[in-house]
Amino acid sequence: MTPKPYTHPDAVAYRPLDWTGLTPPRFAGPVPRHVAIVMDGNGRWANEQGRPRTDGHRVGVDAMLDVIAGAVQAGVGHLSVYAFSTENWKRSPAEVRFLMGFNRQVLHRHRDQLNEWGVRVRWAGRRPKLWGSVIKDLEAAERLTRENTTMTLSMCINYGGRWEVVDAMRRLASEVEAGRLKPSAITERHISRSLYVPDMPDVDLFIRSGGEQRTSNFMLWESAYAEMVFDETLWPDFTRENLWRAIASYHARDRRYGGATDAPKA
Ligand code: IPE
Ligand code: IPE
Ligand code: MG
Repeated sequence: MTPKPYTHPDAVAYRPLDWTGLTPPRFAGPVPRHVAIVMDGNGRWANEQGRPRTDGHRVGVDAMLDVIAGAVQAGVGHLSVYAFSTENWKRSPAEVRFLMGFNRQVLHRHRDQLNEWGVRVRWAGRRPKLWGSVIKDLEAAERLTRENTTMTLSMCINYGGRWEVVDAMRRLASEVEAGRLKPSAITERHISRSLYVPDMPDVDLFIRSGGEQRTSNFMLWESAYAEMVFDETLWPDFTRENLWRAIASYHARDRRYGGATDAPKA
């Protein structure tokens, strides 16, 4: 393979999708179209080893790349990863500063790799408070990868599910104010279309690592009928095999969407 030019001096060398030598198992059904992941447990992982929380974030990036590659291998269409929530500003100024700078570094180092894999990067989140330099790098990654169709990766940075709905409401309210929309005409479709990534399908599979069993404000609107998988593994130890196991457990679920079939046992 001829090496492609890197667009950033910090970019790391390309790896093939299957650098771990693993291939996905044969799944019992269609892969979930949209997988959303709360990458949780970095701080605990590091502290358990007597290291500072930020070391967990550093190692967590390798887990993220492994999972992105595993999602592409499995044929997932949309992958959303929760990297910084609208509530994470409550952390120490040092950790917040680290995370802002670190997210930029991740984009610089890996956007070419993601591009090479055919991944389209989208940013889901709010502008207020988020560092302008982070927004610039997110937008640069969006531009670089805009033609890619293999998988869409939504990087959720300064993302909050409630704020996402509030921002959608503001957009719709201004359409109403401008006389372009009647309040009584507003449907679920209008709200879905006004979210941060408007063409994003509903979440089919919602995964959280790190053992906590809560959504922490991730994909509230999109996950109305998502199947939930909570994995005890702390994020830095999470691999594509954890993802594939979650997909296998998704296939064992009966998705009824509020419907019912009457089938009394003989
Ligand atoms: C998730 O790991 C990553 C971010 C929120 C950026 P945490 O930092 O929440 O790690 P724990 O949950 O404290 O172990
Ligand atoms: C959710 O994890 C946010 C991210 C993974 C980015 P948190 O660690 O912030 O959530 P809580 O505090 O356990 O609910
Ligand atoms: Mg956490």
